[in-house]
Amino acid sequence: MKAIVLVGGEGTRLRPLTYSTPKPLLPIANQPFLERQLEWLARYDVDEVILAAGYLPDAFDEHFPEHEYAGVQLRYRVESEPLGTAGAIRFAAEGIDERILVCNGDVLTTLDLHELVAFHEKAGADATIALTRVEEPSAFGVVPTRSDGEVMAFVEKPPRGKAPTNWINAGTYVLEPSVLESVPPRLQVSIERTTFPKMLDHPGRMYAVKSDAYWLDIGTPGKYLEAHTDLLAGKVGSPPAPGAVEQAPGVWVQGEVDVHADAQLSAPVLLGAGCVLDAGAVVRGSSIGPGVRIGAGAKVLRSVVLDRAVVGPDAQLVDSVLGPDARIEPGGVVTNETVIGAGCVVTAGSLLSNARVPADG
Ligand code: GTP
Repeated sequence: MKAIVLVGGEGTRLRPLTYSTPKPLLPIANQPFLERQLEWLARYDVDEVILAAGYLPDAFDEHFPEHEYAGVQLRYRVESEPLGTAGAIRFAAEGIDERILVCNGDVLTTLDLHELVAFHEKAGADATIALTRVEEPSAFGVVPTRSDGEVMAFVEKPPRGKAPTNWINAGTYVLEPSVLESVPPRLQVSIERTTFPKMLDHPGRMYAVKSDAYWLDIGTPGKYLEAHTDLLAGKVGSPPAPGAVEQAPGVWVQGEVDVHADAQLSAPVLLGAGCVLDAGAVVRGSSIGPGVRIGAGAKVLRSVVLDRAVVGPDAQLVDSVLGPDARIEPGGVVTNETVIGAGCVVTAGSLLSNARVPADG
């Protein structure tokens, strides 16, 4: 089966990380997110993926030079300007006249795609969408359904306490060609706001399947950190990262690492190949990228340190993300969902809380 993965968004909420790396290629527990997604699609017999790209499109080509991953053939369609979700799917699907799967390139999930496709087929639907349940749906598009699964409405961002249901659009769809034929070509159109709601004018076309499988949109710093917490806790599968070996309960290591006898590791922890932890370094509940150095007496708590970054002696990184090749100089403190961009330096002794470095704009 063919799938289209939407990877063209700018990922503004994850800036500055997304200035240099498109969101689908950001590492999640030391593996680019899109690789995880392609492995998931391959498990459900997807053999060809069209990446609907737009923002930093060359990064995908460079990352997958063979145009193949996990047995999945990759093709690219690059929009010259953002076409929105439906416009992008329409553009990517040009020349394809068969049923397709569509997914957002920023959702970490274990959703059962066989179940989704089987339901779609049985219902004789034109479109079937996966739904996931959240506690607070006010930031999402909620989708009330009848008892047979037919979609009744799309309600975007309902006010708190007023949502008709907690089941939200999970960003994974099975679509028949007729759905895309109804989208005007090369125009900016949203599938959630325009295409799907319009389909409800004709009963029997649109169904939804509720799933309690793991599901997380990784698109904000808080959710990006949460994805790591969940992966390290084994909620998405095990091991949490390719080739990771569990050296002690909840302590996962990839390849050779250099951990000083006086460093402290508190599970869950992932250490990438070649990382160095000096005497008195403390790493708790964190994912450490390959080639990272954590200096003497430094603390890394509930955080993500990307490739080759350096946390200097006595520095602290708490509930935050340190981008690739970035550095916190000695004694610097970075806390509270701060995101430090690629190659940036936090100077000695500074304190950053809930900041973006460099700042937006
Ligand atoms: P934010 O700017 O932080 O909202 O992130 P985003 O740009 O990724 O937008 P959003 O999270 O709403 O996008 C959901 C999915 O659709 C992501 O996988 C995006 O890459 C993708 N996407 C959003 N807009 C477009 C578009 O115009 N074209 C393509 N090809 N993909 C898009």
